[in-house]
This record gives sequence, C-alpha cells and structure tokens, in this order.
Amino acid sequence: MSDHEFGNVSTDLKLSLIEAYLKAFTIALRSQFQDLWYIDAFAGTGERVIKQSAVPADLLPGMEERIERRRGSAQIALDVTPAFTRVIFMEKKKRYCAALEKLKAQYPERRIDIVRGDANVAIRAEINALKWAGKRAVMFLDPYGMDVDWATLELIRETEAIDVWYLVSLAGLFRQATRDPKKIDEKKRTAITRMLGTDDWMNAWYDAPKVNDLLGEHDQAYQRIADVAAIEAFVDKRLKSLFPKVLPPKRLKNGNGVPMFSLFLAISNPAPKAIGLATRIASNILKA
Ligand SMILES: C[S@@+](CC[C@H](N)C(=O)[O-])C[C@H]1O[C@@H](n2cnc3c(N)ncnc32)[C@H](O)[C@@H]1O
Repeated sequence: MSDHEFGNVSTDLKLSLIEAYLKAFTIALRSQFQDLWYIDAFAGTGERVIKQSAVPADLLPGMEERIERRRGSAQIALDVTPAFTRVIFMEKKKRYCAALEKLKAQYPERRIDIVRGDANVAIRAEINALKWAGKRAVMFLDPYGMDVDWATLELIRETEAIDVWYLVSLAGLFRQATRDPKKIDEKKRTAITRMLGTDDWMNAWYDAPKVNDLLGEHDQAYQRIADVAAIEAFVDKRLKSLFPKVLPPKRLKNGNGVPMFSLFLAISNPAPKAIGLATRIASNILKA
C-alpha cells in the first residue's frame, strides 16, 4: 500500500496556489527558456487520500467509510501545460518512491527523475551537479515539519534560477521553542538553529517581561514572549536576509483555526525582470 493520507482544508488551498503559480510560470517563460524545471523535494506519491470515517447505520443517515483520492503536488506539476521540460521528485520513503515510479511510467515521453533520500542531501547533489545559467525552475519545499536546513536555502539562493515555495512549519517552531526555556533541550535548540541558520532566535523570542501588580513593578520569569506572528515575522526577516525577494506569506490554519504553516515564495534570481514577473504572478494568486 502506498496510500498517502494527509492534509485538511488548508492543503487544498496550498496546492491550488502552487498549481496556479506553476501554470502562470510556464506560460510566461516557456518561449524564453529551453530548460524550465520543477523540483518537488518532498514529493509524496502524486496523490493524496482523504478518508471520511463511517457513520454507524443506527445514526441517521448512516454512511460507509469514504475514501477520496485527490491530486498531490507531483501529479499537479505533471498536469501543467505548457509542460516543464524536466521534473525532479525527491522523496525519503521507499514506498512513496515506488508510487512515483508508477506515475512516471504513465509519461514515457517526459523527462522525470526520482531521487530517493533526504531532501537536503538530494538538493545539494542536484544543485552542485549543474550549471544554472540559462535555466529557470520552481521548487516546492513541502515538509511535514522542520526538515529544511538553512544551508539548503543558501544553496538554492546561489543558483539565481529557482523560485522556491517554502512551507514553514509555524507549529513545529512554536512546539520546539517551549514557553519555559529550561524545557528546550539541546536537540530542540539545534533543530531550530539548523532551520533558521542562526541562534539569534533565542534573544528575539525570550525575555523576562515586566509586570505591575500588587507586588509593584517586577520582572516575570524568563519565558518565550514571541507568539506565532512574531515567529512568522522572524522567519520572514531571515528569508529576506538571504533572497533578493520574498513575498508576504500565506498563513495556513488547521480545521480549528490554529495557524500551522506559513507558505512563503522566495525568489533567488536578483534580476529585476525575474523578480517583477514572479511577484506579479504570485501577488495576484495570493490576493485571490
Ligand atoms: C506533506 S508531504 C508532501 C506532500 C506532497 N507535496 C503532495 O502535495 O502530495 C511530505 C512528504 O515528505 C516526505 N519526507 C519527509 N521527510 C523528508 C526528507 N527529509 N526528505 C525528503 N522527503 C521527506 C514524506 O515521506 C512525505 O511524503
């Protein structure tokens, strides 16, 4: 079984934004660039399975378990016309790679590569193996959690050819950066620093806020003072310190309205023409 069950309403929104960008990107650039690539570094299977639990028949109206299959990012990218000239899927799970191989077999005429392994390693190998001048690409970084290293973003930036859609796990950062700093162990600290490429977050997110109460003015315990918005703003600032252009992110929430992710578009090409085009396309999509 290679079923890949994930997502909620925000997943549909996320994938519709990516699809709209990919379509507009190839329409705008296909006639100008021979090499127009799509790199899906957390590719999944090409499909996403949504299960709706059964409702017992004695509860009216009873309903059997329903399984719905929708397109994942890999399939969406293959459906884009005009087509990308090369598509690279990276995926850690063996079973999911097998599903991607089946998907690839449906397109014998297309140039599709599947790389099994950690996305950071696979991206490094792919970027280092190529000359990027004259190529343009869109990369989708769609991890469940905090899997993308800052060093990987640095490599992407250096290509000056890749527009990267990066799904940042606000929930992951919020969870690892515990309110009580004594509860952050070395593993959590390292994970956050590896993702953000700096340990400045420790000073930015923690403080001993002053209160004025019955005891008069005094300092509260040292604690995380950064909320989700402050954490998102920190990520935004970090990305802007690296990429020539970063668009305002789209906040994605779970079914209970809790912010889970922020979807960023970062453009690595510093040319005003490239920035202008990507910004125009993405702004319209993000506004809609
Ligand atoms: C949110 S899912 C991606 C969904 C996919 N973009 C889609 O729309 O169908 C994350 C995927 O990343 C894979 N994954 C997790 N950690 C990874 C890593 N370090 N490198 C590459 N893939 C990884 C998981 O197996 C999973 O398929």
